[in-house]
Parts: sequence; structure tokens; C-alpha cells
Amino acid sequence: MAYTLEQLSSDIAGALKADAGPAGKQAICGLVSKALQDDAFVAEHLTAEECRPRKVLYEDPEQGFCVCGHVYLTAAIGEPHDHGSSWAIYGLAEGDTEMVDWRVVKKGEGAIPTLVEPDRSYVLRRGDAHFYDVGVIHSPNRSLVTRLIRVEGANLDHVKRSRIKRA
Ligand SMILES: [Fe+2]
Repeated sequence: MAYTLEQLSSDIAGALKADAGPAGKQAICGLVSKALQDDAFVAEHLTAEECRPRKVLYEDPEQGFCVCGHVYLTAAIGEPHDHGSSWAIYGLAEGDTEMVDWRVVKKGEGAIPTLVEPDRSYVLRRGDAHFYDVGVIHSPNRSLVTRLIRVEGANLDHVKRSRIKRA
């Protein structure tokens, strides 16, 4: 039976209520993975028309998390970033993506950016979902048409990101 956006959103809300810590986020990764592997879900929600580059598919009125669809049609080397005060889960539906985790070389302050260098990289493939906790610095490298689900702890339209620069 198909996994619907309503079910996914309600399952995420339940997982966060059961455990707002890392275990709850890992449970959400499992739920996102299930949606990513559902052809009907991907075809219905992750369309270029709607999601290029980002569409909030669901925003939870109570807990504030968002389920977003992202579609990128061109290759890109992403810049290292965090999501300010929010956590995020990246889940890949199409277009293998190299993710880079960055380590802090020198912590910034105020207008001075935090300097970072690459730490490790790994590839997200269809069905993979990865949790980035608050403050974890990462960047995606895309070489293909890419479709993903990103769950944001809070709507990133309203979250200020940290100043980060390659060392
Ligand atoms: Fe990110």
C-alpha cells in the first residue's frame, strides 16, 4: 500500500513526541526512507514543477517541523553550511549525491565566519536518509538531476544560518 504524505507527516510527529532526541531523529530517517522508496510518493510529491528548488509539503502546526521536497536539475558543488538553530534530515529519492561533513578549524564570532575544512564524504543513494543535528556543518555535491525529501526541525525560511567559510 502506498505511503502518503499525511501518513509520513503524522508518523514523524509521533516519532518526535516519543523521543525528541537522536533516537527520534533516527526513527524519522527510517520513515523518510520508506517514503523515498515509494514510487507513487516520489512521482506525486517530488516534481520539478513544484519543488524546484524547494517546496514545503507539510508544516506541523504543533511541533514546527517541515517536510520539504527539493528538486535540482543542474550539477552543483554546495557550500559548507549548517541550519542555524534547526536540525535537518536529508533523504535521497533520485540522483546519487556526495555529502561532505566539515570540521571547524577556527570558530567565528559575530561578523567573523567560522573556518572549516572537509572531514569526510559519503554518497547518499536512493532510500538513504541522513540526520544532521543542530550545528553540524555539511555540503552536498550533485552531478545529476536530484530529488530529495528534507525534514527541517523548523521552517528554514525563518532560520538564520551561521557564517561559515572554507579555511
Ligand atoms: Fe543543509
